[in-house]
Amino acid sequence: MDRIAITGGFRLEGQLAISGAKNAALPLMCASLLSAETLTLSNLPHLADISTLKTLLEGHGVKTKVEDDGQTIANKGQTISFTTPEITSTVAPYDIVRKMRASILVLGPLLARMGEATVSLPGGCAIGNRPIDLHLKGFEEMGATIELEEGYVRAVAPGGRLKGGIVNFPTVSVGATENIVMAATLASGTTLIENAAREPEISDLVLCLNAMGAKISGIGTKTLKVIGVDRLHSAHHSVMPDRIETGSYAVAAAMTQGEIELIGSNLLDVMTGTVGVLKSAGLDFTPTDNGVLVKLGRDKVKGINVTTQPYPGFPTDMQAQVMAMMTLCDGASVIDETIFENRFMHVPELTRMGADITIRGSSAMVRGVEHLLGAPVMATDLRASMSLVLAGLVADRQTFVNRIYHLDRGYERLVEKLSACGAHIIREDGKGI
Ligand code: EPZ
Repeated sequence: MDRIAITGGFRLEGQLAISGAKNAALPLMCASLLSAETLTLSNLPHLADISTLKTLLEGHGVKTKVEDDGQTIANKGQTISFTTPEITSTVAPYDIVRKMRASILVLGPLLARMGEATVSLPGGCAIGNRPIDLHLKGFEEMGATIELEEGYVRAVAPGGRLKGGIVNFPTVSVGATENIVMAATLASGTTLIENAAREPEISDLVLCLNAMGAKISGIGTKTLKVIGVDRLHSAHHSVMPDRIETGSYAVAAAMTQGEIELIGSNLLDVMTGTVGVLKSAGLDFTPTDNGVLVKLGRDKVKGINVTTQPYPGFPTDMQAQVMAMMTLCDGASVIDETIFENRFMHVPELTRMGADITIRGSSAMVRGVEHLLGAPVMATDLRASMSLVLAGLVADRQTFVNRIYHLDRGYERLVEKLSACGAHIIREDGKGI
């Protein structure tokens, strides 16, 4: 196992390039199943999840070609073309799906293109049991029959084609919205999706689907209307910048009393939930020609109360990072996690570094301390591992973050990007526990 070793206490200054968004790239890649023609995606980040999904798609018959590996120019994403002349298998196997929950996003496209799909249930993960009932109910509203057998979902569209329907989500779900939108593009008739999730990554997906010939209206709203078409055609789409990476490195700048220009992140208008919270904690954001300059506009981070919400509220994917920042706040902060039932796995590890955090149900009370102490810590999930890196950047002495395969799933070139801004951080292969 690898680990990351960080010596804390160094201000971060300089420029840091923001990569393409993992949570936009994954559904966009699945959209390639919908067409027999080529979908070319650029600004794809070099991440483990992207490679895992690429392997899964190839198993369904997708021909992939790396048009540009993005390694020649620093911090450039990769360009990959995806062509699916025919679907060779409609089965998404457990050994791949269990590694990455987003694999469930092949279900809608397979069902739409082939009239059937057999996908392993994703199973839970560290942050919760992650059900897919909303996905399945949506497909049933579109005429599909759903059976669960031996840990697999078997979905069939009678007559080989889904029908347009009204899908009204009782609770907001990003993945379910994405799955149903993709399936509806090829359904016969019109589908109305109500109480749809409004995350910017969904808008990015809809823009790409429309470029492929889909007829989707209501982008960015909670009601999407999809007029089914017979086929989709080729398109080229650039993946939007990663708003969670942007927020994560903004926190790094604030915690280290530094100043970082986040390049390629034209996101301030789609990050209102995140920026609103960070500004109330005392961060300053100054748009520049290349992105946004971030620094802490006061001596210490201000303790504030934070509640995670579906977009456009404060995102759950920023909760662990903001909690790391609040461990050193002036005063105290109450953080309420309303989206996932177990997304405080970073708390015991931050506590080992000297943080003062008390959990009561879905609320965490964080009292600011004078300093954190470096320690060996264990990453448990993607965003929790980032919170530990952030804490290590400001802790006394050295912090060793173990199980960093979690980080590799969602943060491209993290060590390189932070080192270039002055962090004392190295990856130690094989030294982790
Ligand atoms: C997406 O997950 C993101 N992943 C998550 O990011 C993100 O935290 C989450 O949306 C919320 O914003 C990707 O985009 C690949 P949901 P998803 O369906 O689609 C419940 C990261 O760190 N629910 O919006 O799985 C669910 O249990 C990852 O990058 C049902 O009950 O999230 C959760 O409590 C982590 N039934 C809530 O809804 C369902 O059928 C929100 O889940 C589906 C979801």
